[in-house]
Amino acid sequence: MAIIKVGKEDLKNRDSALNELREYFSGLSASKGREITYSVRTYGCQLNESDSEKLCGMLESMGLTEYEGDKTADVVIFNTCAVRENAEDRLFGNLGIIKSDRKNDKDMIVAVCGCMTMVEKNVDKIRKSFPYVDLVFDPQHIHLFPVYLRDSLRRKKQLVNISADDYIVDDSLVPIARKRKFRALVPIMYGCNNFCTYCIVPYARGRERSREVGEIIEELEILAYQGYKEVMLLGQNVNSYKSSEGDRFPALLKAASAIKGFSRIRFMSSHPKDISDEIIEIMASSSNIETHLHLPLQSGSDRILKLMNRPYDITDYLKTVHYFRKMVPDGSLSTDIIVGFPGETEDDFKRTLDVVSECAFDSAFTFQYSPRPGTKAALMEDQIPHDVVTERFGRLLDLQNNLAYKSNLAKVGKTEEILIEGMSSTAPDILTGRTMSNHLINFTIPDSLKIEGKSADDYEGMLCDVKFTSARPYSVDGEMVKLK
Ligand code: SAH
Ligand code: SF4
Ligand code: F3S
Repeated sequence: MAIIKVGKEDLKNRDSALNELREYFSGLSASKGREITYSVRTYGCQLNESDSEKLCGMLESMGLTEYEGDKTADVVIFNTCAVRENAEDRLFGNLGIIKSDRKNDKDMIVAVCGCMTMVEKNVDKIRKSFPYVDLVFDPQHIHLFPVYLRDSLRRKKQLVNISADDYIVDDSLVPIARKRKFRALVPIMYGCNNFCTYCIVPYARGRERSREVGEIIEELEILAYQGYKEVMLLGQNVNSYKSSEGDRFPALLKAASAIKGFSRIRFMSSHPKDISDEIIEIMASSSNIETHLHLPLQSGSDRILKLMNRPYDITDYLKTVHYFRKMVPDGSLSTDIIVGFPGETEDDFKRTLDVVSECAFDSAFTFQYSPRPGTKAALMEDQIPHDVVTERFGRLLDLQNNLAYKSNLAKVGKTEEILIEGMSSTAPDILTGRTMSNHLINFTIPDSLKIEGKSADDYEGMLCDVKFTSARPYSVDGEMVKLK
């Protein structure tokens, strides 16, 4: 599979589709006497969120506005994930729900894109059971969405456009409607070469391809100038970033850190086989790189790691963890763990519990193994019965919840800088934000620090100091002591 840099022809074609669609939707808007709206529903990881921001950007340049009511938008796009089976179930459930709206409105458009579309049986199912879906396209061609949309409107019949070329797109050439006014998602590389035996991502996203340093830095400089406080450098395995000139991730991270304006630079994910001491040292010595490392463990058993095709062992992993804890003492460590991988014994699982205790993860994403069609692990013998998996999963959750609570408890009494993310979802007048170490904080503002005429929402993206007063299992409570 060749890596294809998006060419001028593609972009010309896309822009002419954009123009046509702008006219089409403007006509539709005139005939309906109202704005034409879109909704992009995103499942999956931050890379998918980032793709959705591009889809939203393109929809807005067609003249559409984001739908905010509780009915259905005129254009609905499902940007799907395939990493576990439940993501698929959710999509099919939602497609069922939207059926009557689509049938009753001949102008409505329903599209499905994202990683799920790279699994043939899913596309077959959409063809057979959901013929009212207008358009299905793959995640490597997001930038050509306007072309597909125009073609599907011309065709008036379901259009399926799936191919597996490894495209690389200069993000500055795709309009992006960023969801958060303070946080920018910036993919630095696409795809994955690791082929962990359980994982669908390399099939869905193609081979690794890195954007050029200059391109990324230019995008970051513009974002800093626009006032973004936080930037997230994204890739399935950022430590294998390699530009065509041979620049590696440490150089990129340093260059990003030198840009004036960002208070927080985050990156994810790091593969334990590729993370270097140098990255940890850069984290330790930079004032704007977050002190949070996401380092997926997957299993605490060397035997299972081998079966997973994760080429590191627990001794290596613990070495990295201890170095991180030593160099970044206020930092936090998060991880991903799969329970019930084929062949996992009680002894293997106990090793996972031991490693989790030793690492004292500040937070963890824990998953029950889900066989993915086309992956090696799906064909392995000795798939673990569901009841065994759920029982182990419960034990892991209990342990990890306890560790997360302890990590939150250790914050109580301290005062740290928080980047405000907005209002808490549970209580009005309570703000929510994160520390440099990615701890989630809910806090009140004393009357003396309230800004006249500002609602809680207006604080989004501001920095403040918060004194932490008490801990909960998943968050810390506190009170603002200074607004910056
Ligand atoms: N590239 C990232 C992970 C991307 S997928 C990395 O390697 O760190 C996010 C997480 O989903 C993985 O870390 C893994 O824990 C989980 N996952 C992936 N495939 C899975 C499967 N088939 N069943 C259960 N969990 C899975
Ligand atoms: Fe999947 Fe492994 Fe690649 Fe992560 S590194 S995306 S888990 S194959
Ligand atoms: Fe899911 Fe695709 Fe991300 S499978 S986790 S949305 S790369």
